[in-house]
Order: sequence, then structure tokens, then C-alpha cells
Amino acid sequence: MSGVLITFEGIDGCGKTSVAAEVLSRLEKAGKEVVLTQEPTKTWLGDAVKKGISEEHPALTEAFLFMADRTTHSKTISNWLEEEKLVLCDRYADSTICYQAASLVIEGFEGDPFEWLKRISDAFALRPTLTLLLDLEPHDALERIETREEMTKFERLDFLEKVRENFLRLADVEDRIEVIDASASFETVVEESERRILETVA
Ligand code: TMP
Repeated sequence: MSGVLITFEGIDGCGKTSVAAEVLSRLEKAGKEVVLTQEPTKTWLGDAVKKGISEEHPALTEAFLFMADRTTHSKTISNWLEEEKLVLCDRYADSTICYQAASLVIEGFEGDPFEWLKRISDAFALRPTLTLLLDLEPHDALERIETREEMTKFERLDFLEKVRENFLRLADVEDRIEVIDASASFETVVEESERRILETVA
């Protein structure tokens, strides 16, 4: 038997990072062999991504930076899966499809950037067994993060509206994606996420 990869996705401010950390702690207490990881990663590749998005570069450059980080990260995840671990990942390939498709639309990329990015991702990224999409109105998400010291250029209402649309579009075509209402209380979102993970690994 091999391990299971579960990803958390959603727009900035949806709460997935805090939810994933709490779910990790509960699963560990329940005796599961679980690892929590994230993208951008905490490696020099992840740092390069963060530097890239803090500057002005074409969206295509950003897309390839995220994918470069992911290519190496996927190797690390595969090793954990071989060790039969339960791997929780805070953002993965769906973020590139949904965020960079929104940027490429703004940049005037020819064709449908969503389909193009999905095709590339499907070809090289790992396929999570389950993806929890924490869905929240961008207006509410921005209210939650407006006091943060560091905001990325992605944290704008019109942009996040587009990203959310892309996530919901992806959820329509991917059975592995389960949408969770992230406007509910933190406790409810954590319980709902944990329940769906336990159902998946049972
Ligand atoms: P984080 O806030 O979850 O650490 O992610 C950093 C930012 O990068 C966030 O605004 C989402 C964005 N992002 C992308 O645009 N594409 C990606 O593939 C990933 C992983 C993140």
C-alpha cells in the first residue's frame, strides 16, 4: 500500500493554512503518520518563487517558477507516499491552474489559459486523492487578511473573483475536489475537513 496525498486549495484569506495546521495536529493525536507541506516550498526554489512574484514579471514566468518548485517538491512528496505517509499539502497544482490562468487572461494570452495550464499540470503533477477547496467570497477573504503586513499582488478583489471562478470551474470537472464552505466557523471547517480526510483514508 502507498500513502495518500490530500491538498488544500482556495483563494488568499480562505483560512486553509490555519485549517491545515489544526487538521495536522488532530490527525497526529489520532496516531496517523502524517506530514504537512506547502507551496511555495520552504526551499531555495520556493524562495525564488516568492522573489519572482514580489517583482514584475510576465505571468508565464511566474507559472514556470511555480511549476519548477512543484517538480522538485513532487519528488519529495512521492518519497513520503512510498513511506506510506498521509501527506497534506497547502496549495499544489490547482493553484497554478487557477491563479496563473487568471493572470494570463489579464496579460492577453492566446487561447484558454485554464485549459493550457491544466493540460501541462495533468502531465507532470501528482494526482491528489482528495482536494479540499475552501470556498469563500473574495470580499470576505480580503476582509480577513487586510491587516496582514505583507500582501501579495494577487490579493485584489477583481483578481480573486477570477481565481475563485477558476477554482469552481475546476471543481466541476474534477471528482477529487470537494468544496467546503469556508464562511463557516473555524471549528466547523476543521471538523468538516477532518471528516472528509478520514473518510478518504479509511
Ligand atoms: P500562500 O499565500 O498560500 O503562501 O501563497 C503565496 C501566493 O502565491 C498566494 O497569493 C497564491 C499564489 N500562488 C500562485 O499564484 N500559484 C501557485 O501555484 C501557488 C502555489 C501559489
